[in-house]
Amino acid sequence: MNVLLTGQFGAAERGAWADALAQACPGVRWLDDDAARAAPATVRAAVVANPAPGRLQGLPALALIQSLWAGVDRLLADPTLPAGVPIARMVDPMMNAAMAETALWAVLALQRDFFVYARQQRARQWQPHPQRRADETRVTVLGLGEMGRTAAQAIARQGFAVAGWAARERPGRSVPEGVQAVLGDAALAARLPATDVLVNLLPLTPATRGLLSASLFARLPRGAGIVNLARGAHLVEPDLLAALDAGQVGHAVLDVFAHEPLPPDHPYWSHPRVTVLPHVAAATDPRSAAAVVGANLRALAEGGPIAHLVDRRRGY
Ligand code: NAP
Ligand code: GLV
Repeated sequence: MNVLLTGQFGAAERGAWADALAQACPGVRWLDDDAARAAPATVRAAVVANPAPGRLQGLPALALIQSLWAGVDRLLADPTLPAGVPIARMVDPMMNAAMAETALWAVLALQRDFFVYARQQRARQWQPHPQRRADETRVTVLGLGEMGRTAAQAIARQGFAVAGWAARERPGRSVPEGVQAVLGDAALAARLPATDVLVNLLPLTPATRGLLSASLFARLPRGAGIVNLARGAHLVEPDLLAALDAGQVGHAVLDVFAHEPLPPDHPYWSHPRVTVLPHVAAATDPRSAAAVVGANLRALAEGGPIAHLVDRRRGY
């Protein structure tokens, strides 16, 4: 089977993917963009990492687009994306575990004032603060999907009072023990005043873009923590800066930004109550993710069910 591998990779990264995919997908002939253009009718699948718009056009036998990214917002934003070709996204338990580590670290650091102590250290200030208990710290995780569920579970296991927000009732949804499911907009509005730390793990869709805005921050208890690990466009940056400066938001941990890399003159870099990470909350690791790709390419070859299909209408 001929498969196109395309997208935005550094040179070393592309090499790592090529090696891991070759091992995980025996029988696949990997094509780059030029090779695919030379024999477009032979390309059965495309394995993609946010390819430039237009890269997937003109491939008449294309039967599967497999994303190496968990979030498919940039892929779906390509107006030339071939209609009707199934899209699968990356779902890798190792990646979910990495995300849970990042979310738990941020929640613990907010609960125990570790970001405050880091700030105090820079000012040579010895100032203990009252110690908060985990079970008195209320955490709301936006998103109860692959990442949200795993993160909510890890945080609940640490003793926090955790709720997870999802869009709708889903038959067979598994909600981790100790996590209260909160479904729909009205239930979220009711939960926000009881949220000390808000962790965002939503997909970016028209319904979720700009959700982290002034009106949401205003519903939180004064001094709440914000942890955005999903997409920069979920958050309205001027609204966050205003809420931080007013003390309505106590501290923000941000891994994702409207413009990445974060521009050198951005106010977040030097804001005392913002922690910046360079989009590293959960990287796709070729060592485990290649096997996920291999399973879907095998299913395609054998006519079996493709896993982790994206609902184009919902956008995730
Ligand atoms: P997922 O499995 O598709 O889960 C999405 C969850 O969001 C579902 O629970 C869904 O609710 C909920 N949701 C979607 N729209 C909603 C709405 N309008 N209102 C309420 N809930 C809504 O996605 P995932 O694998 O967990 O990934 C989530 C996101 O994490 C990705 O899209 C990506 O943006 C981000 N991510 C970031 C990094 C990083 O390094 N920073 C790495 C990987 C992924 P239902 O269950 O009811 O449908
Ligand atoms: C990373 O942000 C991803 O969506 O995989």
